[in-house]
Amino acid sequence: MSDQQWPKAEWLRTERLTLEPLRVAHAAEMADILNDQALYAFTGGSPPTRAGLRKQYEHLVAGQSPAGREGWLNWVVRRHDTGDAIGYVQATVERSGEDKSADLAWVIGTAHQNRGFATESARTVAGWLQRQGVHELTAHVHPAQRASLAVAGAVGLLDTGERDADGEMILGLPPVPRDGR
Ligand SMILES: CC(C)(COP(=O)(O)OP(=O)(O)OC[C@H]1O[C@@H](n2cnc3c(N)ncnc32)[C@H](O)[C@@H]1OP(=O)(O)O)[C@@H](O)C(=O)NCCC(=O)NCCS
Repeated sequence: MSDQQWPKAEWLRTERLTLEPLRVAHAAEMADILNDQALYAFTGGSPPTRAGLRKQYEHLVAGQSPAGREGWLNWVVRRHDTGDAIGYVQATVERSGEDKSADLAWVIGTAHQNRGFATESARTVAGWLQRQGVHELTAHVHPAQRASLAVAGAVGLLDTGERDADGEMILGLPPVPRDGR
């Protein structure tokens, strides 16, 4: 076990959404949202089973990887107007020299897309992470996935020119000086 201290996901509220720190009990409603092959068109993979998702969430709610090298922060996104859970935002936090960095991912169920929910959620998480001292943010996005590129752009993540092993674009923020200048 490492003595790494990672930020813990907190409840976050936006104009239209609540971002709830992930609980194992979210697995049932999230399995319904994620049961849609279209969501995996760019990232690969396939819909999880309810039991599989529950197992995955049992793992994720630990808040860090087993050896403590990564912090795992996950939020379920819930609409205020309907009360529906509609997706999630995930931040994988690592130590980066003196600083911390987070890689972000977002998923919004097909029935709820194109209403700005991913943008609203991702911006909120990005701002919160920066207030926790996580100054470097990245996202890995398939070059043809226009919606996700637009979300990244709205968060301020720009093409670094780098590609990951899967050929996805690595988008990032320039690091913010810690003394605020
Ligand atoms: C990527 C994703 C999260 C976007 O969710 P969303 O809530 O629809 O996004 P928003 O409504 O905030 O839209 C963001 C931008 O994408 C655009 N957009 C939305 N759907 C689009 C589509 N199918 N094609 C092109 N652009 C699209 C919106 O117009 C908006 O652009 P703008 O800011 O210039 O107006 C959602 O499509 C998704 O979950 N996809 C599958 C999972 C995935 O691949 N996640 C990415 C892993 S990092």
